[in-house]
Amino acid sequence: MSTLSTASTTAAAAPAAALLRGPRTLFARLALILVVGLALAQTFSFLLTMHERDDSMTHMMVGYVEREVATSVALLDHLPPDERAQWLPRLARRSYSFVLGPGESGTPPAAPLSARFAQSMVAGAAAGLGTHVPPTVNAVPGGKEHFQVHLKLSDGTPLTIDMRPMVGMPLSDWLPLVLLLQLVVLGACCWLAVRIATGPLKQLARAADTLGPDLKASRLPESGPEEVAHAAKAFNAMQDRVAMYMTQRMQILAAITHDLQTPITRMRLRVDTMDDDATGARLRQDLQEMESLVKEGVTYARTLHGTQEAPRRIDPDALFESIADDYRDAGQDVTLRGSIGGALMAPPQALKRVVGNLVDNALKYSGAAEIETGRQDDGRAFIAVLDRGPGIPEESLAAVFEPFVRLEESRNRQTGGTGLGLAIARQLTLAMDASLTLHRREGGGLEARLVLKPA
Ligand SMILES: Nc1ncnc2c1ncn2[C@@H]1O[C@H](COP(=O)(O)OP(=O)(O)OP(=O)(O)O)[C@@H](O)[C@H]1O
Ligand SMILES: [Mg+2]
Repeated sequence: MSTLSTASTTAAAAPAAALLRGPRTLFARLALILVVGLALAQTFSFLLTMHERDDSMTHMMVGYVEREVATSVALLDHLPPDERAQWLPRLARRSYSFVLGPGESGTPPAAPLSARFAQSMVAGAAAGLGTHVPPTVNAVPGGKEHFQVHLKLSDGTPLTIDMRPMVGMPLSDWLPLVLLLQLVVLGACCWLAVRIATGPLKQLARAADTLGPDLKASRLPESGPEEVAHAAKAFNAMQDRVAMYMTQRMQILAAITHDLQTPITRMRLRVDTMDDDATGARLRQDLQEMESLVKEGVTYARTLHGTQEAPRRIDPDALFESIADDYRDAGQDVTLRGSIGGALMAPPQALKRVVGNLVDNALKYSGAAEIETGRQDDGRAFIAVLDRGPGIPEESLAAVFEPFVRLEESRNRQTGGTGLGLAIARQLTLAMDASLTLHRREGGGLEARLVLKPA
């Protein structure tokens, strides 16, 4: 029960942790930072402008209201009482109007905007009347800001100014649209900037990826912004250095293994003239092992060194038929099934060598080999070499491709080898742009599958 709840908590925590960590790609992270940052800055400056606009508008309005109220009150004061009522609509403005009467009573206005307007109105009214009866102000309860200024004209008639201060100016219809447009332009610029910044990284990763054992990596263009051009130059130089070191090492390996052949041959001749038969036989066997090691070493060095065979147009079915025939002629149990059909572009010697190494293994470790050829669902030609031998444990499937790796059980005299067969096969496969994989078979044994590159 507790394990179950722990598991579900962990499952729920995983997406939350991922969310906290943010997006995985550099592109998304930079874009997010830029877009959110710029959008926030934009919104902030918009709000600031609006606030500033409202503030200066209010300031202007306060001065205006004071002057207007002074004039209107002075006019009403001087009009004969029976004419005052008909002037009222003409003196009314959008935010305030005049009422002949005592109005409503209440508490003094507390809202800052009302307080500011009330102050200017009181000043205006006092100036208009030129008297000393101080006008009184009170807020009118309700939803919006609303207050009244009460005063008495010089003949004693009560007058009320009823005001509903306007909060800011209404926004124009097109403003949100312009804002939206700005955000879109901003988003597009961010996207472009991030693309320019991360593009070269992708290119670099691709170039580094293609730098395979054949050292045929694509060169990066040494153009663009200074930093990018610099990185590309450094990468290309590194690539050249790696290729040079590899070539040197391979040349040394090739030279050593090649030059060993001569003394081995000489020793063999000497052993043949020896009297001691028992020691001679043992020495001969050791020499034979040394010879095959040297021979394989030379081949491996050559395949790495890029002595590449050019692909030619071949008839694959005929090629595999002849390989199988050669084995059968030598008395080996090799069967061939299926067909690829048509012609293929491939380096025939390399292909022969890869299949040969796989068949050799199958024969060595199981006594029989089955070659199956055909086309996969995606149209690529495949050659599978199958056996019913001991197979290779799952954890060693990748390791056996490394040079000189042999599995412990097979380290015995009869199946003795150098451990280079699969390394050479993989090297040649890479040069052909093909893929070579090993699989354990149902019911025991091994399947080595070579899939050629699409035609
Ligand atoms: N068909 C197979 N069945 C079982 N084990 C295999 C098979 N093919 C390869 N192996 C294992 O993988 C190891 C590496 O194979 P690889 O062909 O590279 O070397 P090798 O056969 O030992 O020597 P070489 O081929 O150089 O003479 C072998 O030593 C063997 O343990
Ligand atoms: Mg082998």
